[in-house]
Amino acid sequence: MMDDLKNELYKMLEQVGQSHLLRYWDSLDDAQRTHLAGQIKAIDWPRVLEWLHTAEGGISKESLSRLVPAPYKPAVPVSQDDKTLYAQAREKGEAMLAAGQVAAFTVAGGQGTRLGYDGPKGTYPVTQLKHKSLFQVFAEGILRTQKKYGTCIPWYIMTSNINDSATRAFFKENSYFGLKAEQIMFFSQGMLPAFDLARGKALLEAPDSLALSPNGHGGSFEALRSSGALDDMAAKGISTISYWQVDNPLIKQFDTLFLGLHSLLGSDMSSKALIKRDAKEKLGHFCLLDGKLTIIEYSDMPDELLYKEDEAGLLAFRAGSPAIHTISRSFIERLTATKLELQPHKASKKVKHLNENGELVSPDKPNAIKLEFFLFDALPLASNPLILEGNRQDEFAPVKNAEGDDSPASSRRYMLDKAVRMLRQAGVNVPLKADGSPDAVIELSPAIFGDADDVKANIAMIPEIKPGSELYIG
Ligand code: UTP
Repeated sequence: MMDDLKNELYKMLEQVGQSHLLRYWDSLDDAQRTHLAGQIKAIDWPRVLEWLHTAEGGISKESLSRLVPAPYKPAVPVSQDDKTLYAQAREKGEAMLAAGQVAAFTVAGGQGTRLGYDGPKGTYPVTQLKHKSLFQVFAEGILRTQKKYGTCIPWYIMTSNINDSATRAFFKENSYFGLKAEQIMFFSQGMLPAFDLARGKALLEAPDSLALSPNGHGGSFEALRSSGALDDMAAKGISTISYWQVDNPLIKQFDTLFLGLHSLLGSDMSSKALIKRDAKEKLGHFCLLDGKLTIIEYSDMPDELLYKEDEAGLLAFRAGSPAIHTISRSFIERLTATKLELQPHKASKKVKHLNENGELVSPDKPNAIKLEFFLFDALPLASNPLILEGNRQDEFAPVKNAEGDDSPASSRRYMLDKAVRMLRQAGVNVPLKADGSPDAVIELSPAIFGDADDVKANIAMIPEIKPGSELYIG
């Protein structure tokens, strides 16, 4: 029986030059063999190897010369037409929420290697005083919004094999942070093997296990379909998906302007843009390539384009992507109706693996190629893809690195600054230090406070803020 299995696998792998994966077969017990066979069979090897050989490490020189900056809608409308449109869009967005047409979708399947935190990134205690996790911050924002609109917002969370059970357990232990267990659907994305950099051979991380990693946030589309999440959305009457990444606690989860513009302008997939702080800020760039919207990664943009200025003396490619999108369910239905042909990207990474001698090694320099799909690669396939300028201070505080930029420390600073701005806009006195920074640590509960209007509506909850105080309000 196991011999038949070995023969079957061997035939399959030999054709694609990967029979070395059976190197330890004869020393494995039945359970281990079943495990390895399951992993091998789950992979469409010819397709993956084609990707390995055709995937781009970046964008071609020739295409670079054809890139132009993509136009975007301003955060604050300037023309009379836009003023009218934005007012209508806000109303539309509110109506969509009230009608229960909007779902939340968070991608949380990544490995979070840069943060180096032991556990799913969403469980990271991100807030300053109550140490609420990223997941709790999002859950409370959903609670606040559904209360405001008298609705129930379904929340779809994409995990991966590396963190699915820990994520589910975390929610369960925390009683779903006040949400109903049934309104949250967890599902896992696909995994792809890592290949040895020099020879294109898939790596093993154990005698009975491939070195697999999640297939990128672009794996969302297929995972939404194969998990039944899309069908679930259809059954619930969801037309529109608010997408965010697990690492941004400042995300405006349900921005009525963004949702409304997406709908009124008939967009399949809309994006928020942030104006880059400087030419070297590491955000993806919104560009048009032959009229099609596309995001070009920071690392693929030559200095010549990064520093290019427009007639007004501003950076020409200043619209950067914080990975915040509104996506129509119908678009994902269409994309995944047949096999989705997004091209994965190749990246050289350090991947733990068994070496020739069967020893587990942790390389100190990149030794492997990983393939990852990017969600934004669907943009060129979208009709009327709208870009709306967002406000960095109000909606972007990513937790990517352990220290420095985009770290827990910087994220907490931005959260504090936003809390202070909301309080001051609502007329609350916040003591400041001589350098203008807040002279208090204040944490506002996302279950109650999303903007200055929420502060005004709950002003009785706000105590006097004394210099040097630490205050949680919720
Ligand atoms: P990043 O590109 O920042 O990757 O993901 P990461 O895995 O979180 O962190 P590093 O690069 O290993 O340090 C951006 C978002 O996309 C999700 C992540 O969970 C995060 O919300 N993501 C990334 C997935 O859901 N699946 C993936 O395969 C990759």
